[in-house]
Amino acid sequence: MNVRILPSILSADFSRLAEAVRMVEEAGADMIHVDIMDGHFVPNLTFGPGLVARLKPITALPLNVHLMVANPADTIPLFLEAGADWISFHYEASPHVHREVNLIKARGCRAGVALNPATPLILLNEILNELDFVLLMTVNPGRGSQEFIEASLNKIVRLRQWVSGLQLDIPIQIDGGVTPDNLERLVQAGAELIVAGSAIFKSKDPAEVVRRMKDIARGANRS
Ligand code: DX5
Ligand code: ZN
Repeated sequence: MNVRILPSILSADFSRLAEAVRMVEEAGADMIHVDIMDGHFVPNLTFGPGLVARLKPITALPLNVHLMVANPADTIPLFLEAGADWISFHYEASPHVHREVNLIKARGCRAGVALNPATPLILLNEILNELDFVLLMTVNPGRGSQEFIEASLNKIVRLRQWVSGLQLDIPIQIDGGVTPDNLERLVQAGAELIVAGSAIFKSKDPAEVVRRMKDIARGANRS
């Protein structure tokens, strides 16, 4: 497994986003996770494609865009245009999952489907082998700093077994409530793309947390 750390700028200081990105990039982050909320699929409002386009030239890291929006078909083209490298949208938000996945992949972007905590894995049955990654929400989407939902651990294990059994190479992304304290068992369960917002950006030393999470991930991967 190639475990990667994806700081979520949702918990960064919005007035100093460029600085936040540079700081985690220097510390060894593997991608930048950008949370898009539309006030419909989730109550909160965050960023739009303009921010993604502005981040693109200031970082060498891939931009991993998480669309928490209703009607993702309407917004996906905007984020493809803005330079997103990875895009996930919610299964719960789209009646046309296959079409959206192929829309993303047609532009050379990695496509992922996100599942809310109570959404069963089996719904991915007809699309799994077309996905570049699966995003398992480990909190209910909508805001940072929530507590990890423990039942997610077993969901990660089951998805890992399913993917491995099919001999597919589809990394599992997890998002919500991840900290240096619970990271080891999440990686051991099979999570590979690790999003962390508040654990990194609400700490006194975000760079140190990124480095520590990279170390923990490396250790957990070996054992
Ligand atoms: C929640 C977002 C997350 C959020 C995670 O809806 O999708 O990416 O930034 O924040 P933490 O790591 O603080 O739970
Ligand atoms: Zn997210």
